[in-house]
Amino acid sequence: MSQRVLTTESGAPVADNQNSASAGVGGPLLIQDQHLLEKLARFNRERIPERVVHARGSGAYGHFEVTDDVTDYTHAEFLDTVGKRTEVFVRFSTVADSLGGADAVRDPRGFAVKFYTREGNYDLVGNNTPVFFIKDPIKFPDFIHSQKRDPFTGRQEPDNVWDFWANSPEATHQVTWLMGDRGIPASYRHMDGFGSHTYQWTNSAGEAFYVKYHFKTNQGIRCLSAEQAAETAGQDPTSHQTDLLQAIERGVHPSWTLHVQLMPVAEAADYRFNPFDVTKVWPHRDYPLRRVGRLVLDRNPDNVFAEVEQAAFSPNNFVPGIGPSPDKMLQGRLFAYADAQRYRLGVNHTQLAVNAPRATTAENYGRDGLMAANNQPRYAKNYEPNSYDGPVETGRPLAAPLPVSGHTGTHAAPQHTKDDDFFQAGELYRLMTEDEKKRLVANIAGGLSQVSRDDVIDKNLAHFHAADPEYGKRVAEAVRALRED
Ligand code: HEM
Repeated sequence: MSQRVLTTESGAPVADNQNSASAGVGGPLLIQDQHLLEKLARFNRERIPERVVHARGSGAYGHFEVTDDVTDYTHAEFLDTVGKRTEVFVRFSTVADSLGGADAVRDPRGFAVKFYTREGNYDLVGNNTPVFFIKDPIKFPDFIHSQKRDPFTGRQEPDNVWDFWANSPEATHQVTWLMGDRGIPASYRHMDGFGSHTYQWTNSAGEAFYVKYHFKTNQGIRCLSAEQAAETAGQDPTSHQTDLLQAIERGVHPSWTLHVQLMPVAEAADYRFNPFDVTKVWPHRDYPLRRVGRLVLDRNPDNVFAEVEQAAFSPNNFVPGIGPSPDKMLQGRLFAYADAQRYRLGVNHTQLAVNAPRATTAENYGRDGLMAANNQPRYAKNYEPNSYDGPVETGRPLAAPLPVSGHTGTHAAPQHTKDDDFFQAGELYRLMTEDEKKRLVANIAGGLSQVSRDDVIDKNLAHFHAADPEYGKRVAEAVRALRED
């Protein structure tokens, strides 16, 4: 086989890839050395802004197969027939650290799924936790600042992490979750995924349901203790990437079973928890899990930068039959992602192979901008309405309209009868075995005892106490013991 020729980016053969062109043998280098200039200049531009959160992640392709009929609840095309398969791309991630951070850390994990459906891409951008720390998007930048590196010390600071939680009692449920055993998954394959928010499904009769998504791992849940994680992160910072990559290369294809919880719209107003508060779950005895299908990952991307770093998921990418709920956090996210991607990747990021629709084509009147590769076919008009057979609107809303009432203004989240910041955190604590409780208390105390101010410690202890007096007492004792050491 003849050897292929190395070329410049414009395709011209390269004569020498070992020595730069110079003025004489020992002289300075020449500006006419296009190959050298191009190499150095391209190298300087290899990095793009990392994701402002969830910077470190791993991705894989696969498919979703419907196993159970859900057509009574949604007319989403990719869910309309048992046995139907839809190609997917999934990206798992850690949240707080930057691109070079370690995988085996205590942190929620992102679980973002892009379904390439025949009616457009549907992005379900969730986490491995059913709840979140806050319930209003206006707090998100402050929350993330408190968890990432301090602007003065350049380190993650226990003072900031716990100060935010001290002043955000609604975080108690998620903090309990995070500090428990599932706070450090052993790998991306061994964790569940959740849509976390409440979404809306609409069936072909126009009836609407509220829905929560649960991906249950078929590999079984496996977690790392704090000590195991510290060792793993030190030995192989890319442990979760390695595990996912190698499993798929070996032909061991991870899978998850998708279940949903469904709530008729009419039940939302009187449910004892605010169903649009992402710090709360819907107990399964209220709304049982119903199986929908199976997610399988069976192909690694060819290029991590092109397909994983440049992947763009947006909770606002819905398809007919699926829409948002009034969950305030979700509403904030409907703006944030595509905005971040226009900055991080550019306005035409939807044309990149990993982000573009695969089972249909995007046809619209959006044009131009930096790096426009697909500007629609020849003769296509760039305005609408037109008299030239251009694409037209359907007149069919993606999801059912929701009734609203009241006055505009900044409002605290509506309180339902059982809505407080602590009840569900206490329920989670009481569900744990004695060993799990011991580890939970030790993990919390390990972090909280490093906080420099007693008032910040006390505010946090009050939250655990409000969740369950025994929980609060045990954390207080463990913190005291560590601080007296
Ligand atoms: C108001 C609250 C939130 C805001 C403003 C927000 C904002 C963002 C932004 C700007 C990104 C980076 C997007 C990109 O550059 O491509 C991101 C990534 C991500 N967020 Fe959020 N987020 C919020 C809450 C949440 C919640 C509640 C979840 C999970 C239920 C979540 C899951 C994710 C995931 C999985 C990613 C990574 C997606 C990927 O793999 O590319 N976020 N978030």
